[in-house]
Amino acid sequence: MMETKYAILTEKHIDRKIIKEAGKILQKGGLVAFPTETVYGLGGDALQRESSRKIYAAKGRPSDNPLIVHICRWKAVKKIAGKIPQEAEKLAENFWPGPLTMILEKSEAVPLETTGGLQTVAVRMPENKIALALIAAAGGYVAAPSANLSGKPSPTLAEHVREDLDGKIDMILDGGAVGIGLESTIVDLTENSPVILRPGYITKEMLETVLGMEVAVDAALVDSNAKQAPKAPGMKYRHYAPRGELTIVTGEAAHVTDAICRLSRKKRLEGEKVGVICTDETKMFYEADCVVSAGEKTDTEEIARHLYAILRQFDSVGITCIYSEAFSGRGIGQAVMNRLLKAAGHHVVEV
Ligand code: TXA
Ligand code: MG
Repeated sequence: MMETKYAILTEKHIDRKIIKEAGKILQKGGLVAFPTETVYGLGGDALQRESSRKIYAAKGRPSDNPLIVHICRWKAVKKIAGKIPQEAEKLAENFWPGPLTMILEKSEAVPLETTGGLQTVAVRMPENKIALALIAAAGGYVAAPSANLSGKPSPTLAEHVREDLDGKIDMILDGGAVGIGLESTIVDLTENSPVILRPGYITKEMLETVLGMEVAVDAALVDSNAKQAPKAPGMKYRHYAPRGELTIVTGEAAHVTDAICRLSRKKRLEGEKVGVICTDETKMFYEADCVVSAGEKTDTEEIARHLYAILRQFDSVGITCIYSEAFSGRGIGQAVMNRLLKAAGHHVVEV
């Protein structure tokens, strides 16, 4: 165990002294958790093998699961990527800084420890100003997976990071609640045409509009029974897993509420502690040990922002059985359903 330093910052008035201290820790091979607009990241110097090893150890993450390299200016791509396709430039112009990660061929500068043994590298320029200042202070290349223990939902508050990693890392920068709440969209640019490996805030349609071409979605994301393994190694693990057994209920709204009420009652009689994830519109219909609305039914961005904190809340009060309504798949709703399905181990009941 080590002592984890804790510092509170705001994007508006960034404390340069704290950033300098955090940057030094990274340069010396230490680990610093920091806010991004998607989720909190656990940063280490991407160009030092030892830092990447430490990241895997702190998270308890399998070391074949590659890390995303975070940069703070476009030029930095040139050092870590072997070949930079035109599509990458177009996407960067439109979406960076922002919640988009691109997979490119890697250069010699990036150790295989950072890329989980792959010859490709994931690159993202986050939008959060604390993140950008930290990356600059660290020398420009910060490897950062989500700052959770492997298998837990990604952290959307510094408090979540503390729950998981206190005593295991050098420092936590607390920049308050994140804006988006789900991890970045990952697009692979190393094949003949672009492929989405992980859905996020930047949708397929947004990418297609900018690129003027069709963007495919990794087969393993579309079909849970696909034989082929997902190309983003991380997508094969049962991530985002709450302790309670999660079931998603889909169908016509009224039927869904009825079914969840019935199932909850039954489980509670059997001695289970039941949690329900619903919307503002349906919250009043439920009776369970913990009923939480993720937001207004049509506000998928609000739902995205709240999802992981709700799963953590259920864990902390010992919920053993969870029912969730299915949410709209529009916009970021697609990413919401992708994460929810993974959290549920694809356990869906249709009514
Ligand atoms: O929003 C985000 O992307 C956050 C914040 C901190 O930036 N980071 C994040 O990192 O979600 P992580 O490590 O939790 O997820 C990275 C995902 C994993 O599924 C990993 O397998 C995939 O990206 N990945 C990384 N490098 C890859 C590569 N070279 N080829 C394919 N997939 C890759
Ligand atoms: Mg993660």
